[in-house]
Amino acid sequence: MAAREQPLPVRLDGLSRRYQHRVKGEVWAARDVTLTIAPGEFLTLLGPSGCGKTTTLRMVAGFEPPDAGRLWIGDREMGGTPAHERNMGFVFQNYALFPHLTIGENVAYGLRVRSRPEAEIRAAVTDVLALVGLAGYEGQLSSQLSGGEQQRVALARAIVIRPGVLLFDEPLSNLDARLRVAMRDEIRALQQRLGITTIYVTHDQEEAMAVSDRIVVMNRGRVVQQGTAEDLYHRPASGFVARFIGRINALPARVVARAGSGVEVESLGRRFSVASAPEGLHPGHDGDLLVRPEALRLVAAEDPSARFTGTLERVTFLGEKTELAVRCGGEPLLVLQPSAVASVRPAVGATVGVTFDADALLVLPREEGT
Ligand SMILES: Nc1ncnc2c1ncn2[C@@H]1O[C@H](COP(=O)(O)OP(=O)(O)OP(=O)(O)O)[C@@H](O)[C@H]1O
Ligand SMILES: [Mg+2]
Repeated sequence: MAAREQPLPVRLDGLSRRYQHRVKGEVWAARDVTLTIAPGEFLTLLGPSGCGKTTTLRMVAGFEPPDAGRLWIGDREMGGTPAHERNMGFVFQNYALFPHLTIGENVAYGLRVRSRPEAEIRAAVTDVLALVGLAGYEGQLSSQLSGGEQQRVALARAIVIRPGVLLFDEPLSNLDARLRVAMRDEIRALQQRLGITTIYVTHDQEEAMAVSDRIVVMNRGRVVQQGTAEDLYHRPASGFVARFIGRINALPARVVARAGSGVEVESLGRRFSVASAPEGLHPGHDGDLLVRPEALRLVAAEDPSARFTGTLERVTFLGEKTELAVRCGGEPLLVLQPSAVASVRPAVGATVGVTFDADALLVLPREEGT
């Protein structure tokens, strides 16, 4: 491929879009979305169905006019710039290939509308098909390709124009689980190689963690938190993010004291210190005590390290991991252990202890209805 373009930063400043919904009335599909994407960065918008990911991406692409807010690509403000002049590559969930055109012509499309010389188009198509693992496919029709191959063609078509920004909307959701994992690794590798600033949309948290430099979590049209996968996983700012990124145990807790930047809480009749807690949490407040399943370990009930005791209700062998469900004081606790450890385990129905390291605990204000 020809020398890469300079990757561009992207800035969304208060982008908002509302729709009239027949049942719900006025709906803010995206509300005050403010983000900066660094040149060459791979940023993912993650969130549940209907949270505004596609709407946000379509405003960036220029397919959807914002009701408020502005967008910059590099130092150019995009208001009034139509989609085809934004120099962006877009990969959709449904591939959106032209069925009556060959693969070569599908990929060439963006260069033809830009009136590039024939020799240049041919060379670029050959190069880019090789890049996505489809060397020699120029003459095939898209109806002759598998879903994974069609998605590669869609990817080739998006990058052949050497876009300053690459946009993906759920590109893998029509593929089977194994292919999804293979393709996401390929997309990431290709993005790294080309260094194109990328915005990727998915509702699959594992996919987001696998491909992204940074993840933006959205809920109900708004950005609720952004950070690396590790930030979001270990330092969720809300119960919503804690539950959306991975699995987590949440126990009802009451704050009994502030201790520096942390708190003392009571949960299931025991007292725990949490080293870092939100500033707004004060004695008497209700909270959720949060701990990831893999931070918990099963021990004997009488073991001095046991922080809780409860009844082992279920053991599910999952290959490398074993999932154990323990009920403690009426609350379910999920424990995820390496199977080698879990192979020495008490029978279902036994009383067991559960332990964890003190720094595994998080506390957040109680959120109703999430
Ligand atoms: N053209 C439209 N007309 C009316 N409402 C719309 C329109 N497009 C989106 N919406 C509404 O805006 C909200 C956000 O939709 P959007 O498609 O951006 O969500 P999403 O996060 O991409 O969801 P999904 O994961 O299901 O694709 C939803 O409530 C949706 O019903
Ligand atoms: Mg969508």
